[in-house]
Amino acid sequence: MPVLGIDIGGSAIKAAVVDVDRGMLLEAPSEVETPQPATPGAVATVVARLVSDLDWQGRVGLGFPAVIREGVVGTAANIDKSWVGVDAVSLFCAATSRECVVLNDADAAGLAEMRFGAGRGNDATVLVLTLGTGIGSALFYRQQLFPNLELGSFPLNGMSAEEFAAASIRNKEKLSWEDWAARLNHFFNRIERLLSPEMMIIGGGVSQRSESFFPYLNTRARLVPAKLLNGAGIVGAACYTTIVDR
Ligand code: BGC
Repeated sequence: MPVLGIDIGGSAIKAAVVDVDRGMLLEAPSEVETPQPATPGAVATVVARLVSDLDWQGRVGLGFPAVIREGVVGTAANIDKSWVGVDAVSLFCAATSRECVVLNDADAAGLAEMRFGAGRGNDATVLVLTLGTGIGSALFYRQQLFPNLELGSFPLNGMSAEEFAAASIRNKEKLSWEDWAARLNHFFNRIERLLSPEMMIIGGGVSQRSESFFPYLNTRARLVPAKLLNGAGIVGAACYTTIVDR
């Protein structure tokens, strides 16, 4: 069944029609820059334009970089603060005149990896981490999602884990792969003590360079790069329409 998946990020908004039974993009994603400031109204306008440019009439699943409870935005670590308290489902439904569901972006990427990617068939505790502008996290046990985990805000060295170790920090502070991996190790070792995952799936654009930093990481958990790469957020958001109503 085809469903439109949209991945809303800090720098880009990507959309593509997805075959949710096979976990595949049915076309190359359309990508537009995230408007700045990324206020609810501005983002909703861009999303509505994407839906109409793609001439999409069916359901829409959206991944959004914040805590989402029953469709309502709960946090704003890396997005415009005016999002907190906004009913994102109602906003996107009104803007697009389509049925929409909304979930956290890392939960979306995690769902896709568990169904169709590196976590397929794994019933143990699996932690999916997306390393990008921030750090997204999604926890699964027996393939069931524990939503809104937010390990990116875990306190580390007097700041949040994502301020210390996100992929964007490697670029900003011009860290070598080895120095950045040392920060990741610090973070991973702390969260392993809390959650004891059997497998950790590393996603985000940087997962395409796993050979550059995986050799420096030592986790007890099996460490694997994401398989769906940048498509995971779109695929997972589309699949979410088959799980919930909003
Ligand atoms: C947000 C998370 C999100 C992550 C990745 C963090 O700043 O708090 O909700 O999953 O970035 O986009």
